[in-house]
Amino acid sequence: MKDVEQRIRELREQINYHNYRYHVLNAPVISDAEYDRLFRELQALEEAHPELITPDSPTQRVGGEPQEKFEKVRHPAPILSLASTTEPEGIREWLARISKLLPEGVRVEDLDFVVEPKIDGLTVVLHYVDGVFVQGATRGNGEVGEDITANLRTIKKLPLRIPTDPQTAVPAPPRLVVRGEAYMPLDAFAEFNRRQEEMGEKAFANPRNAAAGSLRQLDPNITASRPLSLWCYSIVASEGVEITTQWETLAYLRTMGFPVSEDVALLSTVDEVIEHCLAWVKKRDTLNYEADGLVIKINDLRLQEALGVVGKDPRGAIAFKFPAREATTRLLDAEASVGRTGALTPVAVLEPVELGGVTIKHASLHNYEDVARKDIRIGDMVIVKRAGDVIPYVAGPIVDLRDGSERPITMPERCPVCGEPVVQPEDEVAVYCVNAACPAQLKRRVRHFVAAMEIDGLGERTVDLFVDKGLIHDAADLYTLHAEDILELEGFAEKSTENLLAAIEASKKQPFWRVLNALGIRYVGSVVAQTLARHFPSIDDLMQATQEDMENVEGIGPRIAASVVDYFRRPRHRELIEKLRRAGLRLAEERREEAEERVLPLAGKTFVITGTLPTMSREAATAFIERHGGKVTSSVSSKTDYLVVGESPGGTKYRKAQQLGVPMIDEAQLRAMVGAGVGEQDQDNENWTQGQLPLGL
Ligand code: IVH
Repeated sequence: MKDVEQRIRELREQINYHNYRYHVLNAPVISDAEYDRLFRELQALEEAHPELITPDSPTQRVGGEPQEKFEKVRHPAPILSLASTTEPEGIREWLARISKLLPEGVRVEDLDFVVEPKIDGLTVVLHYVDGVFVQGATRGNGEVGEDITANLRTIKKLPLRIPTDPQTAVPAPPRLVVRGEAYMPLDAFAEFNRRQEEMGEKAFANPRNAAAGSLRQLDPNITASRPLSLWCYSIVASEGVEITTQWETLAYLRTMGFPVSEDVALLSTVDEVIEHCLAWVKKRDTLNYEADGLVIKINDLRLQEALGVVGKDPRGAIAFKFPAREATTRLLDAEASVGRTGALTPVAVLEPVELGGVTIKHASLHNYEDVARKDIRIGDMVIVKRAGDVIPYVAGPIVDLRDGSERPITMPERCPVCGEPVVQPEDEVAVYCVNAACPAQLKRRVRHFVAAMEIDGLGERTVDLFVDKGLIHDAADLYTLHAEDILELEGFAEKSTENLLAAIEASKKQPFWRVLNALGIRYVGSVVAQTLARHFPSIDDLMQATQEDMENVEGIGPRIAASVVDYFRRPRHRELIEKLRRAGLRLAEERREEAEERVLPLAGKTFVITGTLPTMSREAATAFIERHGGKVTSSVSSKTDYLVVGESPGGTKYRKAQQLGVPMIDEAQLRAMVGAGVGEQDQDNENWTQGQLPLGL
């Protein structure tokens, strides 16, 4: 019996160690097969001697009986939350506030800071007695949480016994209570959701909900099947641990075998902290976890302690929040919107919610199949996401918040605009309005035309107005609009009418491929349009080409070819093309000499962009500058001609530009440099004055 006990102890120690090497350090020292052999040996011994099973045995991670409910746990010390700021300035203000509260002789300049990622998961509080994991709880209300020990045991990164590495030989303290964040890594989350959907189970709207949902399972076997991870960052209570700084805390937790983030920094000035935070905003997208910000902590724990708390927020730390990429709000209704191909797509009407600096009232629901699969209902609280340039979309419902009054979203039977019955092609999930005269389709077709032809001064609202007033019946009618017609419309004065007509006129100079793209032929976007224009250098060549001719072109498959042939077969489309020809658009590739004669307005100029521009994303602004002959670089130097400044500009670029005397312009001035007007939304922008001259010109 002594031998068995001894062997069991050895096996547990080895397995714990190898588990730690594998899951925490990502550096296994034995093969999976060897690990499995050790594990099976331990399982067999424990099966033969069930009285020797202990809760910290690695065999006890999985399994455990389903529970009726979670018991309540009182935390040894309040689990505090954090004050936050979204602006770098907020960090300085925080320091200014505490500078008055520092003990005699301590100055802000003397402080060191630890900056850690703020991983968006679920706070957990882990109790160890003599190195053995005895209890784990949720944060709850900060005073009392729920006992989720059995679920936490299933997380492979969580040490069941410390120290896990016998070689470090630092003995575990008699008591240690650690705070950490349980989360689901992004790759695991994507894979997990894919599997859920495959099995017809519900997908989670974000990794946070997935982690929280997984830890709130009453059956730990379910939790065990979820790819949860963990990182630890503070000591809530302890006996026999002498630690005075946050940086030491992180190091100590590492030696005890806890998973600790590597993405942490020890910094000594506020400027460094701010620089670090701004750099992180970019780094954020490259990480395998969702971080909603950074936590900045005063390194000296005694100072943190001395600064005390305001409400539930300790003064000694602050969160720097990244711009939000998602928000929760109520889905009030679902409207059907008619696309330029006539496809009806559902659009969410939302209780207005702020997301990344703009108020969102509508969001895409992709398509009716997606709505059904995610079981999104009217009346649901939903998660709305928005990343960079992407149109906001509804990621999914929060099922737990339903009260039974929610109603399903149904596919419309009639076009919401023209009232004609819809048609569902056999092999498609989408439904279509097939009425060629449907004004909704016309609006979409013209909007697409306007965007593809880069008629910058003509916004969507104006296009809709032209259609509603019967001024245009197809895109070609834009070129025969008269000043008198436009002047009659609300909001148009002499000058704006003149600008608009000039912008339309200027679009006649757009190359053939853009016209081809603007036609809105199914499957013909800008890339395919350029390919086609290279091989069929005029519209007549293209109209005469057979499906086979097109398929012979690299990059043109049967689906595209069939769609192009079908398009030109229709009399309505041939008429449109004749009208465009009469209007003087380029329906053939330009000769090289012609192209070279045109000098682009930004040729030879170098730009740097900083901050968020009012209507253009970084990518769109870069494309805009390049399209007009300019160059965009990432940092300011003496070669920079202009710094384009948006909201919350980066400190370094701004300062450098100031130092070097590089002229700074805003988006409106950038547009003015190329003589482009602005979209309608921009007209609301007070900063924009017509005809304003760019600095330095
Ligand atoms: S420190 C007194 N550090 O963010 C210190 N919190 O309100 C208070 N979080 O849900 C928290 N990563 O669980 C701290 N590195 C980190 C964190 C972190 C994520 C969570 C925390 C809480 C919220 C803060």
